[in-house]
Amino acid sequence: MSAVPGPVKPLWDLPTRVCHWLLVCCLPAAWLAAELAWMEVHEWLGYTVLVLVVSRIAWGFVGSPHSRFSDFLVGPRAVLAYLRGEGAASAGHNPLGSWSVLLLLLLLLTQAVSGLFNSDDVFFTGPLYYALDAGMRDTMGLVHEVAFNLLLGLVALHVAAVIYHQRWRREPLVQAMLRGSADGREGRAAPVSSWRAVLVAAVVALALWAVLAAAPEPPPMMW
Ligand code: HEM
Ligand code: HEM
Repeated sequence: MSAVPGPVKPLWDLPTRVCHWLLVCCLPAAWLAAELAWMEVHEWLGYTVLVLVVSRIAWGFVGSPHSRFSDFLVGPRAVLAYLRGEGAASAGHNPLGSWSVLLLLLLLLTQAVSGLFNSDDVFFTGPLYYALDAGMRDTMGLVHEVAFNLLLGLVALHVAAVIYHQRWRREPLVQAMLRGSADGREGRAAPVSSWRAVLVAAVVALALWAVLAAAPEPPPMMW
């Protein structure tokens, strides 16, 4: 009697996919809002990115097996082996891609956190602007600018790498990021419940709200 194959396990669980495509929408939207000086829209998009990224980082510890950092982050030796053409250990991110994923998440975090301390020097101040002295505020302004340029470069590289794997190596990465799995891109372990991700995101949003509620007030105006 031949064994009946079980249902295909997703490589990327629903929360990981939702988080990815929301980031893809929010990042250009936050950029556009800053360019148009719609600072309140920029601020809310920035908070959304912050909650998404912190939740994704937490998901890297408590999420589904293939979304965990322990599943895909590997040392330099494994990256070099991958570059020599020796296959990847994980069904998910390849050894080189895993480091770009981590860098992308850390840059997004830096971008959103530095925004909290930033100001356009005219109409808008980030909610934690008054928590720092003048020197540190300037530094945060610079960090916000530099991190964004680095992000643009890294996102361009990321999209180029995805296109390379998709077109030249015929790997259905985008289909897997959209549907969870695709031919040759299946998970090896069952995902955890998506409700866990809802709980993680709610805790992160609540923590952000608590930090913003405790933000220092602007000093009184001196006439
Ligand atoms: C604002 C732009 C983007 C950002 C910030 C971004 C960020 C990320 C991050 C953080 C991951 C890791 C996913 C995880 O483990 O949670 C990822 C993976 C991925 N992204 Fe993007 N991404 C962007 C744009 C795009 C676009 C435009 C595409 C489609 C062409 C795309 C396709 C993918 C795919 C297919 C993966 C999975 C790669 C793999 O299988 O190893 N991304 N992206
Ligand atoms: C990850 C999400 C974010 C992205 C991609 C982003 C991107 C940008 C960009 C491209 C600019 C214009 C360039 C510059 O002057 O630095 C800008 C300006 C600014 N952003 Fe953000 N930002 C984000 C989050 C935030 C957050 C959460 C806040 C505060 C709540 C914030 C506050 C500001 C302020 C006050 C400016 C004006 C700076 C100036 O005019 O010099 N940003 N942001």
